[in-house]
Order: sequence, then structure tokens, then C-alpha cells
Amino acid sequence: MLDAKAIQADFPILQVEAHPGVPLVYLDNAATSQKPRAVIEAMDTYYRSYNANVHRGIHRLSEAATAAYEGARVRVARFINAPDPDQVIFVRNTTEGINLVAFTWGRANLRPGDEILLTEMEHHSNIVPWQLLAEEKGAVVRYIPFTGEGLLDLSRLPELLTGRTRIFSFTAMSNVFGTINPVQELVAAAHAVGAVTVVDAAQAVPHLPVDVQALDCDFLAFSSHKMCGPTGIGVLYGKRHLLEAMPPFMGGGDMIRRVRLEGSTWNDLPWKFEAGTPSIAEGIGLGAAVDYLSAIGMEAVHAHEQFITDYALEALSEIEGLQTLGPPAAQKGGVAAFTLEGAHPHDIAQLLDQDGIAVRAGHHCAMPLHHKLNLPASARASFYLYTTTEDVDKLVAGLHRVRQVFRL
Ligand SMILES: Cc1ncc(COP(=O)(O)O)c(C=O)c1O
Repeated sequence: MLDAKAIQADFPILQVEAHPGVPLVYLDNAATSQKPRAVIEAMDTYYRSYNANVHRGIHRLSEAATAAYEGARVRVARFINAPDPDQVIFVRNTTEGINLVAFTWGRANLRPGDEILLTEMEHHSNIVPWQLLAEEKGAVVRYIPFTGEGLLDLSRLPELLTGRTRIFSFTAMSNVFGTINPVQELVAAAHAVGAVTVVDAAQAVPHLPVDVQALDCDFLAFSSHKMCGPTGIGVLYGKRHLLEAMPPFMGGGDMIRRVRLEGSTWNDLPWKFEAGTPSIAEGIGLGAAVDYLSAIGMEAVHAHEQFITDYALEALSEIEGLQTLGPPAAQKGGVAAFTLEGAHPHDIAQLLDQDGIAVRAGHHCAMPLHHKLNLPASARASFYLYTTTEDVDKLVAGLHRVRQVFRL
């Protein structure tokens, strides 16, 4: 078992008070995670002692910066078991990774009438890029519905995933239900009909062991800021033959091999997709985050979150009028979205904040999911490797106070 209390000591912000005299209980990890000292220091050291542009200067600082930035790519590749660091493209975040696939592979390969398959539990960043692409190409977007428990209704798969499906893009773990989807099975089903798979791993890579070769997915995207790393950098993994055949995403410096006034040729992978000066400090920070998580072990992170989620769902179920969204703990990651009869999620979040407890309220960038549930919004507590049972106890006490304030 992880010692979450000891892990909290690695995160300077978790020692800060939310309000004078009120300790912070940070339960908004699905939105973004906190950063350990090792990550903050890696970025600080870069700026203090070897800040320079990468891939360019033949001077000591630039060589050091390039080695650290490219070293981070090697670490990320190992972390997700990519066959080669060249298949790890640094982007800004999950959103940009998915857009990259839509606007390169999608634009080059989709024809009118082709189908893009998504699910009804997607984050907006895995819906809107495909809607834009479908509109441009005359393609059709279809959705796998979810069941009352918040699981994908796979009985609909044979009818929705067909020879017309060119792209099947789905979340590995829902940011509202917490549902962990059967990625390997879905990828195999897509390949059986010749569709390309895109896995939104924004909530998976930070919380579970992910092995892209075992999953056999074609593309997989995730964000550094949800996995102890900084904002401004994320990853798109892709299979080599697909990445090599794809046109570039953005044009500019670094992504070219040769530029003439008549036209240009492209750099090798991964730089073909990395136009302009990259997020260097952020890449180095992500490398440090990967080191931090690897030292703890993703199996241990996942087991801890399952334990905390189980504990939280049990405790929340005892609060009158409270309903959690999504499946039981065994089928989900560390997310507990809920509604409380008689209290609006925003009021819940505001009252909890007075107790120093940070949760999120709203549609969590999953409007279609909430729309289907006939809910304008929900409140969401989300956990990470530093969440303790005491944190959950404080959440439960805070929710009892919400009920008192609203005289429920
Ligand atoms: C499942 C899922 N997909 C995609 C995203 C988008 O991540 P980002 O905003 O870092 O691009 C999120 C972020 O909340 C998410 O939870």
C-alpha cells in the first residue's frame, strides 16, 4: 500500500492552507494534479543553469537543454512502452494530440459518408475535433451509448462499428463516471473492421499502467499536467507507419528538412509534428514527473486509488439524498461525481471550499453525458496518489454541513 500521507510531503502546495487556519484538501485531480518538488526543481534548475533553445545551438547550454528535453521523450516512451521514442510526439495537451490526428490523418483519409465512432461519455476534446472534421469531409459521427451504470453499452457495437467506420476514438477512462473502458477489446474490434483507433488517455496514463503495444492502439493522447507534470505539454503516441504517412500538422521551424522558395520537405519523426520552439522546461518537467511516478510504480498508484475510491463511494452512499454517477469502484478509477438532492453543485463546491476542500462543479467538459442524464451539472471529487482516507472523511463531513446549511 502507498503511504499517501508521506507522499503528500513531496508536494509543497499540499502544505499550504486553503484559507488562514484551514488546511487544503485537494480533490480536483481529474482537472489537474499537483506537482511534486522534484518536478518544480527540475524546471527551476533548467531556467537557472542551462536555459537555451534545443536542437539548434552548438554550445554547451543548448546541448544540455537538448539532452534533457530529448531524455524526457525517452522516459515517456518507456513509461507507456512505446517501441521507439520517435513515436512520442510532444504536443500541448490531450486536446492538441486529438486535434493533430483529426487534422492530419483525418483530413488525408476521410471521404464523404465515412463514419467516425465515439462514445457518449467523451470529454469535449474528443468530440469537437471530430465534429469539425466530419463537417469538412461530409463524414458522419456516431456514438456508443452508455448504460444506467455508466458503462459502455457494447451490445450496440456490432451495429455501430462497421466497415464504414474509419476512426474509432474513445476514452480509456471517463472523467465523470470514472469508468475504465476495455481498451484492448475495443481496439481489436476496430481493427477487425479496418478502423483506426485513437485512445483518449488523459485520465488513464496518470492513474494506471498503460502499455501502448499491449493495447495495440494506433494513437493515444495524454496531458502532463494531470500526471504530476507541468501544463503546456502533452503527448501523442502513434504507430510509426501512420505517423510517417501523415502530413504535418503545423508548419515552421524544426519540422522541416529543407526549405526552398518553391516548397519544403519534412523532418524525421517526431520533429515533423513539432513546429517551432517547443515547451522545453515543460518537457523536462514531464520527464521528472515520469521519474517520480515510475519510482512509486503505476500498479501501486492504481491500487491506492481503487482503495480510496471504494472507501469514498461507501462513505458517500450513506449521505441521504446523495447519488454518485458511474459504476462501482471495481470498474472505475479515482473519480466520484455526484448530485445531492436540494443543493446545486456550484453551491456544494462553494460551501466545501469554505472548509478548504477543492472539488469541481459543472459539466466537466462532458455536456452530452450530463444532457443524457438530464442533469445541468454535477459535483466531482477526484483522487490521486496523495489522497488519504482523512481527506475523504473531511469531504463527507463537509457534505453533511452542506445538508445542514440547506436544511435538507
Ligand atoms: C477524459 C479527458 N479527455 C481530455 C481532456 C482534455 O485534457 P487537456 O485539457 O489537458 O487537453 C480531459 C481533461 O479534463 C479529460 O479528462
